[in-house]
Amino acid sequence: MATRLEGKVAIITGAASGIGAASAGLFAAEGAKVGICDLPGTGIDSVVEEITAAGGEALGMPADVSDPDQVEAFVAAVAQRFGRIDVLFSNAGIGGKGTAEEMDLIEFNRVLAVNLAGGFLCAKYAIPHMREAGGGSIIFTASELALVGSRRNLAYTASKAGLIGMARSMALDHGPDNIRVNVLCPGAVDTPMLRRSIDMHDDSAAYEQMIVCEITLGRIGHTDEIARTALFLASDDSSFMTGATIVADGGATAQ
Ligand SMILES: NC(=O)c1ccc[n+]([C@@H]2O[C@H](COP(=O)([O-])OP(=O)(O)OC[C@H]3O[C@@H](n4cnc5c(N)ncnc54)[C@H](O)[C@@H]3O)[C@@H](O)[C@H]2O)c1
Repeated sequence: MATRLEGKVAIITGAASGIGAASAGLFAAEGAKVGICDLPGTGIDSVVEEITAAGGEALGMPADVSDPDQVEAFVAAVAQRFGRIDVLFSNAGIGGKGTAEEMDLIEFNRVLAVNLAGGFLCAKYAIPHMREAGGGSIIFTASELALVGSRRNLAYTASKAGLIGMARSMALDHGPDNIRVNVLCPGAVDTPMLRRSIDMHDDSAAYEQMIVCEITLGRIGHTDEIARTALFLASDDSSFMTGATIVADGGATAQ
């Protein structure tokens, strides 16, 4: 039995799919009790069922991370059910394509509301519980695109770059509470989000090949590879890390 998160309670957002679902399963397998959320109708219950069937403990709730009332209720429900909160993996995210000319303000604000303000809200409501527990670990899923520019992708890149600045400031504010705050920047990872982005292109096979060519390791990443990086940041293995940005992109931004 793996025990790297034994005795801890972890919140994971955007956990019905992709990186969030893989991380929920891994964190539970490592001994954490997990509170997971996603948008209504996205299948959070089946992730709870899988975790429970494997012998873990999970609470699933529909919640939109951009809505303060829903985030507050979700965090409170997890704390009430499991008695504490040690880890927040703020992972929910959406894409948003377009140049400044093409994109309207409503769409721009929606991407920022989910990807950036969503992280702020989750942290805002989780931090008091972490302080009470004697400390904690907050992880924001950003992207390799937080570190480089990306064509027709300005709202997404702005939101993900914003997470890095926000995490550094949060790390300074809450270091004295023993709350660590770090950012995980995945590269291309095989999830429904990546598949949607590939399928938007007329020649999707050629576009996928282009992505692979830009990755030093010559392949797209797997969700469990990102989940294991998140586990490192969630666990005491990273106990001297805060305000840091970890990149797991197969070397895409090395060139
Ligand atoms: N897949 C990649 O290549 C890649 C690369 C870099 C960063 N990321 C980031 O990783 C994170 C996870 O993405 P993924 O690839 O697993 O995608 P995914 O689409 O499989 O999963 C994202 C989940 O977030 C949920 N979500 C969206 N808006 C939400 C909201 N307002 N409230 C709650 N949940 C919401 C979705 O319903 C979905 O289940 C995202 O932040 C994404 O930007 C992904």
